[in-house]
Amino acid sequence: MNTAKSTETLTDTPTSLDSPPFAAMFKASEIVNAAAAIAEAECIEQLKKTDAVPLLMNWLLGQESIVCSDPTTVAAKLRKMVVGGAGKTVVISDFDYTLSRFANGSGERLSTTHGVFDDNVMRLKPELGQKFVDLKNKYYPIEFCPKLTMEEKIPHMEKWWGTSHSLIVNEKFSKHTIQDFVRQSRIVFKDGAEDFIQSLDAHNIPLVIFSAGIGNIIEYFLEQKLGAIPRNTHFISNMILFDEDEKACAFSEPLIHTFCKNSSVIQKEAPFFHEINGRVNVILLGDSMGDIHMDVGVERDGPTLKVGYYNGSLDDTAALQHYKEVYDIVLIHDPTLNVAQKIVDVINSIH
Ligand code: TMP
Ligand code: MG
Repeated sequence: MNTAKSTETLTDTPTSLDSPPFAAMFKASEIVNAAAAIAEAECIEQLKKTDAVPLLMNWLLGQESIVCSDPTTVAAKLRKMVVGGAGKTVVISDFDYTLSRFANGSGERLSTTHGVFDDNVMRLKPELGQKFVDLKNKYYPIEFCPKLTMEEKIPHMEKWWGTSHSLIVNEKFSKHTIQDFVRQSRIVFKDGAEDFIQSLDAHNIPLVIFSAGIGNIIEYFLEQKLGAIPRNTHFISNMILFDEDEKACAFSEPLIHTFCKNSSVIQKEAPFFHEINGRVNVILLGDSMGDIHMDVGVERDGPTLKVGYYNGSLDDTAALQHYKEVYDIVLIHDPTLNVAQKIVDVINSIH
C-alpha cells in the first residue's frame, strides 16, 4: 500500500494534520485508517484505468489448456490481490511436479525429491535402489487412486514415507553424497521457475515451499540452480537430520506426507512466520488434492487463489472434474510457470 501518497493527499487538504480542529476531530488510529482507505481508493481507481485484471482474465480464458470454472470469482480474487499489492501477498507452493516439471519433452516422468534416491541408488546399489522403486510403484497409484478416500489413503502414505525414510537413515547417506545425487538427478525446474522465484524475491513477496518431499533436497537444488537460496524463500518440509559426521541419522518431526499438508504440521514458531503475518492474500500453487489446504495455517481474512497443475490423464474425466472443483484455475499438462508469473506481474504492476 502506498502510504507516502496517502499522507500527501491528507496534507493537501485545507486543514493541516496538526492544526487543533483536525487533531480534536480524529485520533491517530483513525487518521491511519483514513489514509489506508484513501490509498486503497486510489489504487482501485488506478486499477480501473489499467484494465489489468480484465486483460489477464481474457488471456486466461483464451487458453485451451487453462480451465477456470468460475471466472467471476477468479476476477474478484485477483482484484483484491492487486489492490493489496505485493506487500499483502504470499505465495505458498508445493515443489514436486508444481515448481518442478512432471515430464520431459518426450513424455518421460521426471523425478520427485524422494525420487533422487531411486535414480542414484539404483546405479550404485541396485538392490537398495530397487526397494525405493518398488515402494513408488506400489504407493504412487494409491496416492492418486480416485476410488479411495483421503482417510483410506493416509495409512498407506504413512507407510510409504516411513519406509522410505528408514531406508535413507539406515544407509547413513552423507550430506555430500546427497548433494551429488541432486546434481545428477532428473529433477527439472518448470520453465520460468528460476525467474518466478527471483521476481518474488525482488518484490519482497515471501515464497513458502510446502513440500511433502525432502526439504534438504529442495535446498540443494535451489543452491545449485540459483547460486543461493533467495531471502524470501522458506520451507515447510521433511528435513534429513545429519550427525556430526554429516551422515543422515533421522528425519524431522512431524512427518509430512501428501495428505497432511495443512496447519497440523506447521510450526508457527518458525522464524519466517512474522514475515508472512499480515499477508492476507495467498497465491497457492499445487498439483495434488493434498495441496489445497496448504494455506490453512495462515490466519487472515483475504482470498486464496488456488492454481492447480493437472498432470493426470485427460481420459480421467472424474479426476479432472475434481480439480476444476477445488482449484480456481487448472493448468493442464503445463510445463511452465507462466500463469503464476503473469498473476504476480499484474499484482506488481499497479503499485
Ligand atoms: P508433494 O509434491 O505433495 O510435496 O508430495 C511429494 C511427492 O513425493 C508425492 O507425490 C509422493 C512422492 N514420493 C516419492 O516419489 N517417493 C517416495 O519415496 C515418497 C515417500 C514420496
Ligand atoms: Mg506435488
